[in-house]
Amino acid sequence: MKIKNICCIGAGYVGGPTMAVIAKQCPGIKVTIVDINEARILAWNSNNFDDLPVFEPGLAEIVKETRGRNLFFSTEVDKAIDEAEMIFISVNTPTKTYGKGKGMAADLKYIELCARQIARVAKQDKIVVEKSTLPVRTASAIKSILDNTGNGVQFQILSNPEFLAEGTAVQDLLNPDRVLIGGDTSTKEGNEAVKSLVEVYSNWIPLAQILTTNLWSSELSKLTANAFLAQRVSSINAMSEICEETGADVQEVSKAIGMDSRIGPKFLNASVGFGGSCFQKDILNLVYIAKSYGLNEAADYWEQVILINEHQKNRFSDNIVKTLYNTVSGKNIAFLGWAFKKDTNDTRESPAIKVADNLLNEQALISVYDPKVIEERIYADLDYLNTRSEEENRSLLKVMTNPYQACDNVHAVAVLTEWDEFKDYDWKKIYANMQKPAFVFDGRGVLNKEAMESIGFVYYKIGSGSK
Ligand code: NAD
Ligand code: UDX
Repeated sequence: MKIKNICCIGAGYVGGPTMAVIAKQCPGIKVTIVDINEARILAWNSNNFDDLPVFEPGLAEIVKETRGRNLFFSTEVDKAIDEAEMIFISVNTPTKTYGKGKGMAADLKYIELCARQIARVAKQDKIVVEKSTLPVRTASAIKSILDNTGNGVQFQILSNPEFLAEGTAVQDLLNPDRVLIGGDTSTKEGNEAVKSLVEVYSNWIPLAQILTTNLWSSELSKLTANAFLAQRVSSINAMSEICEETGADVQEVSKAIGMDSRIGPKFLNASVGFGGSCFQKDILNLVYIAKSYGLNEAADYWEQVILINEHQKNRFSDNIVKTLYNTVSGKNIAFLGWAFKKDTNDTRESPAIKVADNLLNEQALISVYDPKVIEERIYADLDYLNTRSEEENRSLLKVMTNPYQACDNVHAVAVLTEWDEFKDYDWKKIYANMQKPAFVFDGRGVLNKEAMESIGFVYYKIGSGSK
């Protein structure tokens, strides 16, 4: 089937950028992104391109080029489903917060709602594409809902997991390492559906990079990729602690091992811990799946990746308390960065949240500066933890729009996100306005130790031993 109309349900961090790039690269396809969140759709339709709900370098330009041409944002979900031959489901699949599998399994209620809505609305045959990250074998549940509640139309389910990373989404989408498409390769119709999606991507991606597999391999590959990536971060973070104790420097160790072509240099930056909406959620889901098949050793192996990550965040805040003479009560600490990584306004599972919560428990006073995260989001992240009242969060933690103001008169500065601009600050000026001794805790290893020490800072970098 030649695809002319695509509908994407879910206008979030994946749906928005992914579909904007499809619209850019396939001018002959009309792409409609729908969402039940009216405010989000309104923001995507904003004439001020700084107000788009997702910040990604290069994204606003693409939306500017395509919106109103062949890219549309709407809340009319039924209409978009009806018009499309191909429907991407790109809704959130968070960790369950209730019932069986609470805190581990993926919550598939939004996926099921989409499937039921598609079944209800569809009057012609449709290809339904899983873009969301899903537990292996979810396609069979979606198929069962579609086949049993629909209007007798034929549905083909494809799995097309998204591998983009936030902050580099546009580049990742324009130039992906690979595109993965899983389908029912045992039937003619299944193979034809796979071919239709291959044709969409082949508008800009070489065929050799478009990988087709059966449904279950595709679904499981996404969880596997995230587990492997997160495992590398936890592995280097586990080494960072050993480096600190032994006088080694984790950046030197990363470089030394990364030059081994079997290991490779990427994803070896020690940090205050990984964040983001995917790694923790997807590993917990993998652990849950393994346990549900009775594969306890495999489950324990992957769970350790999460445990090390929790340890790393706690270790960072513990070190701040210990270094500041075992008390931070009433002391001012500046946070540079709140986003879970640079070049994004996303804060989901950001290590800054846990580190702040730990320090607030110790009665520290925190001032936060992040170039892209708004005040409302920061308070929402803290309030969500339910550790203390909303009033307490607002009185103990202040959000600043100027980094120098955030660092003014503080006992310590903690770097929580690796925003490039932090490297270029006037650190002499920051030092002059801080309490002495002036401490810097670099949770991302972005500042230069010698330069910081020559200014007079007591400088602590994650993974750098002082012995
Ligand atoms: P998100 O929360 O930013 O966006 C999801 C959107 O879906 C929300 O705007 C929500 O209102 C909408 N939605 C939920 N139910 C709906 C319904 N029934 N009808 C219409 N709209 C509905 O989530 P995201 O970060 O874009 O992630 C989406 C999926 O992609 C998840 O499964 C995630 O694991 C996966 N993924 C995310 C990333 C990433 O970097 N964020 C990368 C790869 C894969
Ligand atoms: C991840 C996957 O990379 C992507 O393929 C998938 O589609 C979604 O999940 P994302 O979470 O957006 O993407 O960002 P990523 O670059 O993977 O970083 C995740 C976290 O790990 C961040 O907090 C980052 O700071 C941290 N990280 C990453 C490190 O601490 N060290 C590293 O070397 C790499």
